[in-house]
Amino acid sequence: MADESNIQSFEEAQQSYGDVFDPEKYMQSYYGEMLKTENCLFKPWTDVLDEPHYDAVHASRFKMRNMKFCIENVLTAMKGPLKVLDIGTGPFCGNLMYMSSFDNVTSIVCSDFLESCRNYIHKILSSKPSDKTNGQFDWSKFNERFYGDANSTLIDSFRNKCKAVKHVDISNLESGLKEVSDLGPYDVITSEWTFSDGTRDRVEYEALLGKCNTMLNIGGSLILSDVLEENFAVTSFEEDGKRMRCVNVSEEWIRGAIERQGFAIEQTILFFNREQDSGYFDGLGELIVWATKLK
Ligand SMILES: C[S@@+](CC[C@H](N)C(=O)[O-])C[C@H]1O[C@@H](n2cnc3c(N)ncnc32)[C@H](O)[C@@H]1O
Repeated sequence: MADESNIQSFEEAQQSYGDVFDPEKYMQSYYGEMLKTENCLFKPWTDVLDEPHYDAVHASRFKMRNMKFCIENVLTAMKGPLKVLDIGTGPFCGNLMYMSSFDNVTSIVCSDFLESCRNYIHKILSSKPSDKTNGQFDWSKFNERFYGDANSTLIDSFRNKCKAVKHVDISNLESGLKEVSDLGPYDVITSEWTFSDGTRDRVEYEALLGKCNTMLNIGGSLILSDVLEENFAVTSFEEDGKRMRCVNVSEEWIRGAIERQGFAIEQTILFFNREQDSGYFDGLGELIVWATKLK
């Protein structure tokens, strides 16, 4: 369990986020494990639902498998050309790389609050395979293990289709999404593990869903992945690292908020099976929702 005295307030965490969040450490902590396990992700997507523990490795495996499944459903149901926005990309663009391999996806905009994360994505966009250094997250290996992409075609398609990496602040709906809304409207908005970290409460979380609705074309898709019933998450990855408060959301509440904000829910994938605490966060499960804009 987290030491309560080590949990920062929202304002404190947002102010110090840039100093403590290390994009490379984040990638190694959540996604690096997948590079160590032989073909761990080629199992059918439902297998993870039977796994008893819920920690950083299971959380990212669950997300990867089920986002892949969800992305396939969304992108085969939609006609192109499709413009995609990802909110809170952080240093992670695995699912966006996969989306870029679909012919109907023509442009992708990434966004994050932190300059270090935006720079990390810029580095992927501008690097060549020969630029790789030891200790850096190995995207070619990740994509080969997970998607069977032996020739790094996913990195290339992402480089071709990612048109911008923008600043976004989801805790400030007045002006924090201006840079990304100026590039809209979009056909697909994705966001993974970000809304409950970057908003103060359920009221702000729901208003953000409403903002996503206004940035989508009618019929457009929202793909939202978030952690359920989470009270804290780490901002750094040290043993005694700082933890920030998160918005505690339940499956029922998220579904209601999405519908109240003008969406029809097309699909939900739920994982609610925790039997042990994780040092990284205390969420009880995860939810992936695909919803389409009604009006
Ligand atoms: C847990 S990470 C998720 C990163 C990535 N989407 C993934 O799935 O691995 C949360 C992200 O939210 C971003 N974030 C935190 N506060 C934010 C805010 N107020 N506005 C926008 N992004 C924010 C962080 O910089 C970080 O990249």
